Amino acid sequence: VMFVVLSCVVSYLLGAISFSYIFTKWIKKVDIREHGSGNAGATNTARVLGTGPAIGVLILDVLKGVVAVLISMAFHLPDWGIALSGLCAILGHIWPVYYGFKGGKGVATTIAVFLMLMWLPTLIVAIIAILLIALTRYVSLGSLVFILTPIAGLAIGGYPSSYIIVSAIIALLLLWKHRANIQRLVQGNESKFGSKSK
Ligand code: G3P
Repeated sequence: VMFVVLSCVVSYLLGAISFSYIFTKWIKKVDIREHGSGNAGATNTARVLGTGPAIGVLILDVLKGVVAVLISMAFHLPDWGIALSGLCAILGHIWPVYYGFKGGKGVATTIAVFLMLMWLPTLIVAIIAILLIALTRYVSLGSLVFILTPIAGLAIGGYPSSYIIVSAIIALLLLWKHRANIQRLVQGNESKFGSKSK
């Protein structure tokens, strides 16, 4: 249990490194949370800096999540400990200690954690989500479809129940973080990828 706690703390501290914040601070000397949607994530980096840097942010935010889960695996934690470490990396991304606890919506880090816990359902749902984003240009809609991954994991089967349960908690957390996006989607005024508004 001590190693689970240790791994969770390390994962949180790693997850709390916000590459969207770092990139926009370095390149444009602005706080990303005061621009676009105000979210410290890759989608908003695209609005503030452009698509190239946004892809860099996405890759790095995914990588930090992968590293967090890899560290928990190196600790030889039980399944539930690995899943909890992944959750902690996402908590770090959403509520980062280094930036006044105001971070992102956790999507990039969740991609990493879901991939590490159950790569096949993640890949299948991610492809559907990416196609949907390409068709509608609503990144948030893709994110909302992506959080259905635990259901796909359950359908495919063979995963530890702790992976499914923790993934479902992560999905609910992201659903809640996207509540403003959901409202905008329903009202038809969500910003489309490539346009500069919120
Ligand atoms: O990754 C977050 C995305 O789903 C929505 O981001 O900035 O449009 O709220 P944003």
